[in-house]
Amino acid sequence: MKVLVIGSGGREHALAWKLADAADVTEVFVAPGNGGTATEPGLSNLAINDLPELVAWSLANHVDLVVVGPEAPLAAGAVDLFRAADIPVFGPTQAAAQLESSKAFSKAFMARHGIPTAAFETFSDPAQAHAYIDKQGAPIVVKADGLAAGKGVVVAMTAEEAHLAVDDMLLSNTLGVTHNADGARVVIEEFLVGEEASFMVVCDGTTVLPLATSQDHKRLGRGDTGPNTGGMGAYSPAPVVTDAVHKKAMEAVILPTIAGMRADGIPFTGFLYAGLMISPAGEVKTLEFNCRMGDPETQPIMMRLSSSLAELMLAGATGQLADVDLAWDERPAMGVVLAAAGYPQAPRKGDLIAGIPASQRDAKVFHAGTTLRDDGCLVSNGGRVLCVTALGDDLQAAKNKAYAMIHDIALDGAQFRDDIGARALA
Ligand code: AMP
Ligand code: GLY
Repeated sequence: MKVLVIGSGGREHALAWKLADAADVTEVFVAPGNGGTATEPGLSNLAINDLPELVAWSLANHVDLVVVGPEAPLAAGAVDLFRAADIPVFGPTQAAAQLESSKAFSKAFMARHGIPTAAFETFSDPAQAHAYIDKQGAPIVVKADGLAAGKGVVVAMTAEEAHLAVDDMLLSNTLGVTHNADGARVVIEEFLVGEEASFMVVCDGTTVLPLATSQDHKRLGRGDTGPNTGGMGAYSPAPVVTDAVHKKAMEAVILPTIAGMRADGIPFTGFLYAGLMISPAGEVKTLEFNCRMGDPETQPIMMRLSSSLAELMLAGATGQLADVDLAWDERPAMGVVLAAAGYPQAPRKGDLIAGIPASQRDAKVFHAGTTLRDDGCLVSNGGRVLCVTALGDDLQAAKNKAYAMIHDIALDGAQFRDDIGARALA
């Protein structure tokens, strides 16, 4: 099997590495990839970004499976293009990817299908949005409708912050939201309290297989402080997802979502990620959907997957998930993100990276924002640079191993959290 993975992040490095691990996979191409996928045995980078060009290249090179990692190409219709060319492709169609690419779509979908989520209203008129905030009071949450690379959500502790967020998202757009076809919109919703968990499944339109559970750390600083990021570290499994929470998440959120999408004529295929808020009473509500795997959750989850990812994805792409069994390493895994100076506001690029430890059976450094310079040196090329990931007999052992490795790595101005896994280790 020849496989093409689209993307360049830590998630794509981990997926491509795991895909290459299958006996029947001969070559894995990553477009455009990063400094890690350029040097990983079994992987090659492909310097093509344009989707129609990638379709043509895949046809010419007899690619057997295409995997689309990030949300942007999914929202741009990558899956539809490969399907039109009869190439097996893993991921949701453009219509199904609206679960992530439009908060207004996903909230309306949840309301229509009775899927538990925060109470909300959607606005395009700033005056009405301001009036709603005045009526509801703070804390309150303002979400841009379109994709915003993780920056489109403002959890406002004061009404003033919420008003500013509305003006930003509807008028000045300094957050850089990609507006959807019907223009700038915001969802304003109830503030929920509890503990968050990432719940990911794989689906072929009908059959659903849950992946191992995980928890991400979205804030930049220790103790969940500082600005929101794409994720500073993750571990799997997440003890907050007890058997009772797992059952509720499947029965109240995942299965009705898959059934609802099918009923609406847009069956969901690929990875579905529900961001859940679990209240102190154990009540589960959906914060958001993503139509892809989480990054960095993918890195520890892939370290734990012991069955074939290629088989899983090919079955997911061809409606045959019912024939697949997933197997997991019982041991927990942790991934700690090493981010660039200035992340998340203005990550500095071009810094030399040295001292990355060699891969071991139970420890691996996945690359994200890295690239090989013309002289062959590895340099930073994005906000989240590396994700140092390790398995351990227990979570503390996984943590010790990951942090021992991170201390060997030299990157000027690097930032990382020293408390990944704190909730599970407390
Ligand atoms: P989202 O992209 O919707 O997951 O939002 C990003 C982050 O904002 C989430 O991971 C939560 O930490 C926070 N968040 C989103 N919605 C809410 C809400 N209704 N109540 C409290 N926090 C929220
Ligand atoms: N780590 C959160 C995300 O991938 O959306």
